Amino acid sequence: MIRVLLLVIIWMIHYVCPSFQKDTTFVFNGFYQEDHRLHLDGSARILSKNHILQLTNATTSQIGRAFFKKPVDFKPSEPVSFSTHFVCALLPVGKISGHGIAFFVSQSTDFIGDDPTQFFGLFYANKSDSPRVLAVELDIAPDEEDSEGNEVGIDVNSAKDVASAEASYYSDKDGRKIDIKLKSGDPIQVWVDYERTTLNVTLAPLGNHKPSRPLLSSTSINLTEIVQGRSMFFGFSGSTGSIMSYQYILGWSFSKSMASLQKIDVSKLPKVPKPYNKKKYSSPLLDALLGLIALLFLGLFVKVYMYRRDLYAEVREEWEKEYGPLRFSYKSLYKATKGFSKTEFIGKGEFSSEEVEKVLKVGLLCANLDPDARPSMEQVVLYLNGNLDLPEFWPTSPGIGVLTPAFSTAQLMLPSLSRTPSSSNNSPFMTHSIDYGSGR
Ligand SMILES: *[C@@H]1O[C@H](CO)[C@@H](O)[C@H](O)[C@H]1NC(C)=O
Ligand SMILES: *[C@@H]1O[C@H](CO)[C@@H](O)[C@H](O)[C@H]1NC(C)=O
Ligand SMILES: *[C@@H]1O[C@H](CO)[C@@H](O)[C@H](O)[C@H]1NC(C)=O
Ligand SMILES: *[C@@H]1O[C@H](CO)[C@@H](O)[C@H](O)[C@H]1NC(C)=O
Repeated sequence: MIRVLLLVIIWMIHYVCPSFQKDTTFVFNGFYQEDHRLHLDGSARILSKNHILQLTNATTSQIGRAFFKKPVDFKPSEPVSFSTHFVCALLPVGKISGHGIAFFVSQSTDFIGDDPTQFFGLFYANKSDSPRVLAVELDIAPDEEDSEGNEVGIDVNSAKDVASAEASYYSDKDGRKIDIKLKSGDPIQVWVDYERTTLNVTLAPLGNHKPSRPLLSSTSINLTEIVQGRSMFFGFSGSTGSIMSYQYILGWSFSKSMASLQKIDVSKLPKVPKPYNKKKYSSPLLDALLGLIALLFLGLFVKVYMYRRDLYAEVREEWEKEYGPLRFSYKSLYKATKGFSKTEFIGKGEFSSEEVEKVLKVGLLCANLDPDARPSMEQVVLYLNGNLDLPEFWPTSPGIGVLTPAFSTAQLMLPSLSRTPSSSNNSPFMTHSIDYGSGR
């Protein structure tokens, strides 16, 4: 709806209001198939999905041209001048790509006999002059003079540059020249300004302001002479040869004077499409790799989880149900003792660990759940003196660790004491036999 309204307004500006007709000004923030202001020929297409103007795709020996249908007229009384600003992107295909694009001013739209490759579909390969064309080329094809293939040049009637420079821009912020890689696939801004035989070409990456210093400034260009007429067509041409690239125009603004040049709305510019074949080939491999990494991480995670779970595993027994809430978790004990480390003993000193163990064991025996199974004071004294061996028991022994339902005193029997004559060690208790129950 808005687009239709916009077209109506543009149509009104162009055909109804005569006052606007004098000053040709237009702006393309992206390209739309229903916008018929451009003439396309050769391989040039408007990609309806991306709203992008594609001059060439990755096909050999192509020429693609797009130009504003209406020629720009200059009255004999008015000096020829123009300003243009466009955003383009050159996406390489393979190691060596070509050939590049050119912004052109031409007296006609008839380019019969023009050659692709380094002639940009604008000039003749047979070295004879072309029908009156001025071009600003972004040349990405390597050749003897320009081995890198990263050059900006001004061409007059033939592909031989009258002025050229390695692609770069002057950064006002940094106060120095910064290189630009034309075939990076990133959007590049180009300004071409012409006034009184001076043609300036300025470059900058997208997102930068127009640098105050142009990259190229040619002072001896008489457009009326070159183009031979005061009616000129403006547009773009791109070409490929045996080497190729995707060549795109994302936005374009034009005006007969620098003052009335409209700003390109960068936020509305289309995105550069990703190279189709590159994506196709790298994607499954990348996906597989990412999947593998994810799987490895998952495995590691599960392993760590299992290890931790085993490390802190709790042994819960029947009898604990009653005492459950009073329990220290194995995990907290494990942490507090640093994994029951041998270096974490406390209370080391006058007593040996055997003595400590003995006292604790006697304590446990005295705390037997069955009062009848507890040792007598005499026995305790014997145990502590070392005159009587402690019975062996385990956490599972009845009365000590486990409260067996069918508890019977017979199951953990302490030695029955029998008074006998004193022995050599002066102990009144000589013999004892221990018989304990079902504990391990
Ligand atoms: C490139 O465009 C031409 C038409 O100009 C078409 O025939 C060809 O299939 C396209 N190639 C690719 C790789 O898109
Ligand atoms: C060069 O090629 C163009 C287009 O094919 C032709 O018009 C012109 O006469 C040729 N010039 C020479 C010197 O062969
Ligand atoms: C071209 O650049 C020069 C040097 O910066 C400047 O003095 C001149 O005004 C510029 N001309 C145009 C038409 O932009
Ligand atoms: C450019 O060339 C035309 C035709 O030859 C001439 O009339 C005009 O004076 C020239 N303009 C400049 C600025 O030299």
